[in-house]
Amino acid sequence: MDLGLANKRAIITGGSRGIGHAIADTLIAEKAAIATCARGDVALSEALKKWREAGATAYGKSVDVSDTLAYEQWFSEAVEQLGGLDILISNVTSMNQEQGIKRWKQAFEADLLQHIRTTEMAIPHLQKGKSPNIIFIASIASVMTSNMPTETEYGAIKAALISYATQLATKLGKNNIRVNLVSPGPIYHEGGFWQQVEQQKPDLYKRAKAVSVFGRLGTSQEVANAAVFLASDCASNITAANLRVDGGAIKTVNF
Ligand SMILES: NC(=O)c1ccc[n+]([C@@H]2O[C@H](COP(=O)([O-])OP(=O)(O)OC[C@H]3O[C@@H](n4cnc5c(N)ncnc54)[C@H](OP(=O)(O)O)[C@@H]3O)[C@@H](O)[C@H]2O)c1
Repeated sequence: MDLGLANKRAIITGGSRGIGHAIADTLIAEKAAIATCARGDVALSEALKKWREAGATAYGKSVDVSDTLAYEQWFSEAVEQLGGLDILISNVTSMNQEQGIKRWKQAFEADLLQHIRTTEMAIPHLQKGKSPNIIFIASIASVMTSNMPTETEYGAIKAALISYATQLATKLGKNNIRVNLVSPGPIYHEGGFWQQVEQQKPDLYKRAKAVSVFGRLGTSQEVANAAVFLASDCASNITAANLRVDGGAIKTVNF
């Protein structure tokens, strides 16, 4: 199936590893042009080198999305380098190192506020784009009452992100901008959270595998496949959807 993504222009936040990286790889395989960012320079530079050597149009620079001014500058440079914007994939999350109320503030910043800032920067450009759309990467932690690593803040704030995105889909419909979410279950990737858990907390890792009906963690590529489908013209009548990629972990009927 031709996803019709050739020459589409996409920004994916946090593309140096994990899910964001797999999404960038997959969009590039579909001949889209991409721009991405991360705080760390080494993995980002390696990724950009790989994509450019494969002939892709790939722009990237290290920036922290919570550094508002630097991020705004990065964003406008990214749109300029791409020559416009058709797809936004807002993917960044950060490991929360805080405790107590500071932990809630950090979760609010990393898993909600920066997604909203990113969206507000993107909308004026998407309005001029070709079949424009936005994808947010949420989590099934948003609907779990016993979160795997007992991160109450993460689940609650991801739930707020789903509410925000779904309301946005209605508002942006008149502009023909689609808005969707992908909610992964536990996803294993090199250098990721669950690799650390596998090494340091084998019991928790075993529990994470057991939430899936397949008895395994998902892969970044499985999440990327869902995100890239939703971003493509093949999903032209899909908006306000929250697509779970979780191996059937949530045991409710999805009406
Ligand atoms: N992995 C899972 O099991 C899982 C499950 C459900 C949902 N999700 C969601 O899926 C998305 C991606 O998860 P992941 O596991 O791929 O995450 P990850 O391995 O931690 O990768 C996050 C990416 O974002 C970048 N990043 C982090 N903080 C940043 C900041 N402040 N500014 C700019 N870039 C930043 C990271 O690079 P630097 O560190 O160099 O900045 C990296 O490229 C997140 O929204 C997460 O909540 C993941």
